[in-house]
Amino acid sequence: MGVWIDTDLGFDDIAAILTVLDAGLTVDGLSLVFGNTPLEQVRRNAAGAASVFGWQMPIHAGRARPVMGVLETAERILGQTGIPTIGLTVPQDKLADLPGPEGDAFLALCAWLESAPEPRRILALGPLTNIAALALARPDLTENIGEIVWMGGGLTKGNHTASAEFNAFADPEAAAIVFAQNLPVKMIDLDFCRQILASPEDTVPIREAGGRNAALIADMLDGFIGIATSRGRPAMALYDPAAAVAFVRPDLVRFEPAHIAVETAGSLTRGRTVVETRATHARFNAAYAASCDTDAVKALILGALEREAAKP
Ligand code: BDR
Ligand code: CA
Repeated sequence: MGVWIDTDLGFDDIAAILTVLDAGLTVDGLSLVFGNTPLEQVRRNAAGAASVFGWQMPIHAGRARPVMGVLETAERILGQTGIPTIGLTVPQDKLADLPGPEGDAFLALCAWLESAPEPRRILALGPLTNIAALALARPDLTENIGEIVWMGGGLTKGNHTASAEFNAFADPEAAAIVFAQNLPVKMIDLDFCRQILASPEDTVPIREAGGRNAALIADMLDGFIGIATSRGRPAMALYDPAAAVAFVRPDLVRFEPAHIAVETAGSLTRGRTVVETRATHARFNAAYAASCDTDAVKALILGALEREAAKP
């Protein structure tokens, strides 16, 4: 049975999608959400990536703004296109294929869930705005969701602010709604993802793989790693790809149950994920990725990129 990916399509999202496809899963659709960049740029990135990598799945544009509050994007860190160093240019003849207007994703996601013979699996790689909209408007359909693996949140600290991870900070109300509605979320948080690190030497086999997209993938990964190295850190966390591995190979990951809630009011802590692991103190509503075989997870991600880079 096919899966669904909800994404604010920047580079690590692309690497995550390639990891899912490399694992042999059928992706029935992508829904786009603002996040790394405004939705308009996310649509362009999606069209560019689909054209370059030959993706055939339907792509639908979702929400362009958070449930409440101001639009927060990450160009300050990632650059104008959300894909560091190099943007995917959309070929002129593909411009007409840009995923449809804002909002289209909601109906597509509803139709996909309605047609489910058994509970569906979703990988969410951006702010949870599209998922929260679904949970609010069609709570009946949430029964058809078997699992949402979400890259977001932080057990101990944030990256966008000291308290909050970016995907949680970009739409705290949406994340709060999703956890409060008891959707079956597995949270792949910053602390977990920061164990899966890519450094400059990791791009070498990809560049040498020899396929038509080898240089492009290596350049994009180099640019992504450069976000860390330009700030004096030796390696960059593979956030969304780590979540993709938790999605396709849960056997490599140890999950722990928890009660997870999201701070929406705190002036210094807005977007913070609050994780209670004591069963004596709260009823568990979710799970988080606690640890994994880090070498195996990283090998799966880099292997997926290398195999894509080797395609003629
Ligand atoms: C998350 O924020 C986005 O910029 C990345 O694509 C990832 O989903 C990391 O905090
Ligand atoms: Ca993302």
